[in-house]
Amino acid sequence: MFKNIYKNILFPYNHFEKLNDYFLLLEPKFIDIKKTFNKDSNLCVEIGFGKGDFLIDFAKNNQDKAILAIERSQSLVKEVSKKLILNNIDNVLLVEGLADFIFHFYIPFSSVEKLIINFPDPYPKKAHIDKRLINKRFLKLIYNKLTKDSLIYIATDSENYRDYIINELQSLNIYKIEKFLLGFYDDNYQTKYLRKWLKLNRKIYSFIISKKS
Ligand SMILES: C[S@@+](CC[C@H](N)C(=O)[O-])C[C@H]1O[C@@H](n2cnc3c(N)ncnc32)[C@H](O)[C@@H]1O
Repeated sequence: MFKNIYKNILFPYNHFEKLNDYFLLLEPKFIDIKKTFNKDSNLCVEIGFGKGDFLIDFAKNNQDKAILAIERSQSLVKEVSKKLILNNIDNVLLVEGLADFIFHFYIPFSSVEKLIINFPDPYPKKAHIDKRLINKRFLKLIYNKLTKDSLIYIATDSENYRDYIINELQSLNIYKIEKFLLGFYDDNYQTKYLRKWLKLNRKIYSFIISKKS
């Protein structure tokens, strides 16, 4: 469906440049999944896809799914866009931007059946902990965007971030940790950072999380 280079990218900030009434920024621009992907499907979302190794294999293995992939680095978005075209992948929409912004303004309610976050930046210094993607605020923000039976997959090499995620989940008390694993949650996939940490013999921790009913 997305034929030309960069046609499979949504650059959200472009929408807002044209607006002079700042209140309009508060209006969501929810993606019409059926129209965008030509599929009657919920969304699978990957945040921070980096070089796109996971995304490309995931898209190939899930051709019936509508996949929305968010990355804040414009150069990575462009690089992966080219890879999607080379691999003839037409079920992925890349979105350049920050995940919380994209979730709030672009992702419809009850539409995400799978959320994948592989090796989110750990921000190990105490002073930078507020910059972490996964925290109570973010987990609250995405809650109503997830379907009832959705699953969240998270992998990290950081023990500190692992414990932080567990604490945030427990104090929020609206999610359930279905599985906590030592190692990456799916042996069929690779990511740049997974390879990097395995090479350095670092331990990997994975979470599979559901919504509490
Ligand atoms: C440590 S890298 C992991 C990349 C890839 N998932 C992997 O496993 O190789 C983290 C990635 O998340 C992206 N990122 C960090 N914070 C983000 C945010 N708030 N929204 C979207 N992307 C983000 C970064 O640009 C980077 O590409």
